[in-house]
Amino acid sequence: MEFKESLLLNERLHQIIPGGAHTYAKGDDQFPPGCFPIMVKGKGCHVWDADHNEYIEYGMGLRSVTLGHAYESVVEAAYKQMLLGVNFGRPAIIELECAEKFLEIVPGMDMVKFAKNGSDVTSAAVKLARAYTGRDIIAICSDQPFFSVDDWFIGSTQMNAGIPKMIQGLTVGFHYNNIDSVRVLFENYPDQIAGVILEAEERTPPENNFLQHLKQLCHDKGAVLIFDEIKTGFRLHLGGAQRLHNIEPDLCTFGKAMGNGFSISALAGKQELMELGGLRHQKERVFLLSTTFGAEYHALAAAIATIKTYQEKNVIDFLYRQGQRLADGINRSIAETGTAKYFGVMGRVSNLVYYTLDKEGKPSQLFRTLFLQETIRRGLLLPSLIVSYSHSNEDIDKTVEIIHEALLVYKKALEEGIEKYLTGRSVQPVFRKLN
Ligand SMILES: Cc1ncc(COP(=O)(O)O)c(C=O)c1O
Repeated sequence: MEFKESLLLNERLHQIIPGGAHTYAKGDDQFPPGCFPIMVKGKGCHVWDADHNEYIEYGMGLRSVTLGHAYESVVEAAYKQMLLGVNFGRPAIIELECAEKFLEIVPGMDMVKFAKNGSDVTSAAVKLARAYTGRDIIAICSDQPFFSVDDWFIGSTQMNAGIPKMIQGLTVGFHYNNIDSVRVLFENYPDQIAGVILEAEERTPPENNFLQHLKQLCHDKGAVLIFDEIKTGFRLHLGGAQRLHNIEPDLCTFGKAMGNGFSISALAGKQELMELGGLRHQKERVFLLSTTFGAEYHALAAAIATIKTYQEKNVIDFLYRQGQRLADGINRSIAETGTAKYFGVMGRVSNLVYYTLDKEGKPSQLFRTLFLQETIRRGLLLPSLIVSYSHSNEDIDKTVEIIHEALLVYKKALEEGIEKYLTGRSVQPVFRKLN
């Protein structure tokens, strides 16, 4: 496989775009040296790069494309709406239609407001929790990777340059499935915690009624419970992890898969909170999500078409079925190649990720690099292992075959030394101080 054109384009990208990509997760530091495909087109779960290489992909627009690239009914709905206009000076009927459709799938929520990115809505949830409680501190689940591009979250990461210390001090962390770690925060910051935000499930499911205890604790202490459903919505369940686990938060946020790749996100919640951003109350007004493109109509049309497709074609069941086929196939290969101590898959099958360990059993970015190198060269793009409605049995079986070959190389590298197999530097975590 050659990357000649892509490498030239990659250099041009770095000349004029910091990081060579508009999202850090797509940066070339996330990929093995020399394997930097620049994409031209996609259809279903297949994508093609500037050198005409074809891949089966499992990144799917950072998890936003769950039906498949260029999925026809969604593209058609968006196009039809574009012909009617994309943005007027007063609300359009489609804003109401989309809001009603959305609240149908997340039945515990009373009101919803749309925006363009996940970060818009998690930051809006944080602002609303602060306004509602009159408190400043936000508690985040420190075991989960990402909540927003805004200061309240980025200030809590390694990459906090440019964020005032004062802001950094307003975000505190707790651990998933550890209710005592939340209790300690409420004790250390009495009457100061405005809200608690977490993904109701990330890699591991809740244990010992963690979510129920968390809700009770938040309400006892007067704090707002926020579920970030940006990854879990449309994947663990159409209505998010809250529906899977039968629990209603006070506020929740959706994004990513809502429009099968079109830019749309949602903040939903109980009326008592959400109406603070409205016109029909006598309390202090909250500036809640008001942007020029917040209700861009073709994104709303895409969201309606996406939700209908999920409902008509039972997409969630399909994601679980194909995820299971993938996990089973990979687990068979792991057993056959004797790599069980060093490589594995985890998470709910509709939302799988993999991990790479070195000879000592420690998490290894070097072995992740090797795995990526061996799979990209054979036609797989695997930043994670998430399936879409377009991943056919044939795609999954081909993927397992390639992963098997990559694991054979992984095994040899464990035995003979990774330097012999890896052609350059390691991939790096996004959140780090220096390049
Ligand atoms: C759980 C979670 N919350 C929030 C966000 C932010 O979403 P966006 O990148 O659309 O701003 C992400 C993005 O990866 C996410 O995974």
